[in-house]
This record gives sequence, structure tokens and C-alpha cells, in this order.
Amino acid sequence: MTAPVTQNAIDVVGELTRARARTLDLCDYLTEDQQREQVSPIMSPAVWDLAHVGNFEELWLLRAIDGRPAISDELDDLYNAFEHPRWERPSLPLLSPVDSRSYMADVRAQALDLLGRVDLEMVPADPEDRVRRLLHRGAVYAMVIQHEHQHAETLLGTHQLRGEAAITPPGARLSGIAEVPAEGPAARLAPAGSTGLSGEVHVAGGSFTMGASDDPWAYDNERAAHTVDVEPFYMDRSPVTNRRFLEFVQDGGYGSPLLWAQEGRDWRAGNEPHPAFWAPADTEIGFTVLRFGRHIDLDDILDDPVQHVCWYEADAFARWCGRRLPTEAEWEKAATWDPVAGIKRSYPWGNEPPTDRHANLGQALDGPCAAGSRPLGASPHGCLAMIGDVWEWTSSDFRPYPDFEPFPYKGYSQVFWGADFKVLRGGSWATDPVAVRGTFRNWDFPIRRQIFAGFRCARDT
Ligand code: AVJ
Ligand code: FE
Repeated sequence: MTAPVTQNAIDVVGELTRARARTLDLCDYLTEDQQREQVSPIMSPAVWDLAHVGNFEELWLLRAIDGRPAISDELDDLYNAFEHPRWERPSLPLLSPVDSRSYMADVRAQALDLLGRVDLEMVPADPEDRVRRLLHRGAVYAMVIQHEHQHAETLLGTHQLRGEAAITPPGARLSGIAEVPAEGPAARLAPAGSTGLSGEVHVAGGSFTMGASDDPWAYDNERAAHTVDVEPFYMDRSPVTNRRFLEFVQDGGYGSPLLWAQEGRDWRAGNEPHPAFWAPADTEIGFTVLRFGRHIDLDDILDDPVQHVCWYEADAFARWCGRRLPTEAEWEKAATWDPVAGIKRSYPWGNEPPTDRHANLGQALDGPCAAGSRPLGASPHGCLAMIGDVWEWTSSDFRPYPDFEPFPYKGYSQVFWGADFKVLRGGSWATDPVAVRGTFRNWDFPIRRQIFAGFRCARDT
């Protein structure tokens, strides 16, 4: 069977296979007990993520496009995220680690078999023809592939929450001290301060195109593409580093109520005055950072973007330095808009898919790289590391764009709209290259810190 390739060159078989290898790697290195264990009430047991990924694939690649009956009647309920909150999942009669894997393998074998018989090129006859619309240019495959990678990133966040019991994820090389992208001009440059890669860029006011119009990988929440008028602003070239964040910590930023949003004050009262996974230490710099079970001296990663901060910490830091978080429109304009050509790019560097030289993605490392590491990834405005390294908190609540239409299901985006969630942009070192782009929108509660999130600041002109 030859792999169907769509106009946007989705190598469906190759990408399904690559995503599955990643998922299995991330579960196989855990003991059976660890796979069943709930590390935190805010996360699922790994074995739930595993069969949930399989069930999602069954729902979309077998039943939605081919009308097949359910493989087993209980699974839809067990693995439906809306039926069972995360804290409840370990008490469910979940499939065992072995049975989860064979269920997934069964679904996958059927999905690949069906793939040989569907036509991904046909134009949807009318918008009501859901099956054609799902298949058109491989959109439903793109969704399933991204979904699996999103759960892989969630598995990594769960693993990090194991604290000292965690180990470096399979496939990831150690980052943070001397490790660099090995070849080519992407090799690490000197830290930001000495290369002029810090500082900020000016983004002129005026309209740009926000959102995705014609990308089979885009989720419903990225559509419709629309024109947004943005006031002029300044945007940081790089994400806020550990060095800068430490200054905020040492300046008593956590203890200055006026820097914190009201709900942030409540959050702050219940938490230590430093990012998650930092620990006060008897070292010169005063902190170590726990990363997948390894203690790193903060001094060794001062030029890396800070990660594992919640939205309130990001918001307070920005206020401390007389700045603010960017809106997601500002973020997207600074990342994707070519002001000279008046053209939107898929990625900051252009329309070519990410490589190692452009962005730190795909869990090639175990964390972010120093600010300024990848000048080839710069946006037309000169912003760096907008894709990869750390997710970036924005000031924006998660809301629909004009003419939003849920597709193919309301539960991906629509049920989350509103002020409870803040938008994150740009992907992290743990995000797969196919699961992020200039228009990609992630969201989470403003208190969450297990995600690989940092931020950059903006300010008015
Ligand atoms: C987009 C990361 C917020 O994990 O809740 C996974 C992705 N949606 N399964 C999540 C998702 C359905 C989603 N986030
Ligand atoms: Fe899911």
C-alpha cells in the first residue's frame, strides 16, 4: 500500500506510525504500576491516556468515516473525557496496560486497512456531507495524529509531576547545560545578552490576518481566518529567561500584592514563592530545578526560558517590569505577519515545516534551549523561539473567532470557551512539529504549572 499524500503532503501512514511509536515509548518506559498510578488528581493514569488515544482513533477513523460498530460497548464511556473527570479515572475498570495496547493495535490495523480504500482528494459535495468533509485532504487523519501527540505531551507533563521518581524521557537528549542542536547554523550561539538577541521589537499598528484558512491540519478553533486591527506595540524578542525571572523572585515579586491579579493573590497564598520544580538550595544561586528527576543548578540554565510558571506568575512578572502579557492577536502578528510583503506565514520563518534548525520541538531534548539559540527561526519582526521551547501564556481568554463553526465535534473547543481558560501559543520543546503552527491555539486554567509553559512580555508604545 502506498501512503496517500494530500495537497498539503500529509504522509498519513508515516505520521500515524510516528505518533504511535512516541506514545508507546512514553508508556513502555514506565513500570506497569506506574502506568496505572495516578500521579496527581489533575492528570490521568498513563494507561487511561493510552486507551483513550485508541478510542479516539476508533471513533474517528473507523466509526465516523466507515460506520463500523463499536469494538466494545463499554469503552466509549470509560475513555470519554467528559464522562469522567481526571481524578476519577484510576477508580474506573480501565483496560490493563497489555489490553490497552492490543486494543490500540486492533484499531490501528483496521484504520490502516480502511485508509487504503478511502479517497482523500475528493472535494466535499456539500458541507453537510460529514464523511467527505472529514476525509477531504486528510483532515480527520491530521486530527487523530495531532490528538495522539497532544496526549504524548500530557504524558510528559504527568511524568514530570513524579518529581524525583521521574527519569529522562526516552528519545530526549539532555538539554539545559551544554547540549545543543548538533549540526549547522542552529548550533547554540552565545546567550542572548551577548549577541543582541534580547530586547524587544516594534510591531507597527494596523491589520493582519489572524487564523487559518486552508490548512487541513488546523483545528476548528483556528478558523475562520479574519482581519484583526492591532494597535502598535513592542514585543520581547525572546521568552523571559530564568535569569530575569530569578531577579523577580529575589526582588520579592511574589510578596508584592500589587503585582498580582486578585485571583492570583489567592493562588500565591497557597504556593511557594518561585516557579514549580524550583527548590531553594544551598548553592551560590540559591535554587536547583528538578527536571525529570534530575536536579539542575539554576545557574546552569539561566539563559533558558523559564518554564512551569502559571498564568498568574507570568502576569505578575510582566507587571513587575512595567510590561504586560501580549494578547494572542499580538502574539500571532509578531510571529507570522510579514509586514513588508503583507503576507501571513505558516511559521515565523516561512512556510516550510519546522526543522531542528528552526525550532526546539518534538521532544528531541528534555527541555528548552537558551534564548537566541535558533536565529533561523526568527519571525519577520525579529522575534525568536516563538515556535517551540516553551508554550507562551497570552493575556487572552479562550474565545471563538468570528464565524466559528464546531467541526468535527463541539468537545474539542466549544465547550471550553470563556474566561476560565487562558490561551497559550507556540508549542514547547515537547510539542511535535505537526501539532503546532503559527495559528495553533492551546488553552489551560491560569493556575496550571505542569505544562511546559513560559511567556514573553509586550508593552504599549
Ligand atoms: C488542547 C491541550 C487543551 O489536552 O485538554 C486532547 C487537547 N483535546 N484530547 C487537552 C485534547 C482532546 C487539549 N488541549
Ligand atoms: Fe483526548
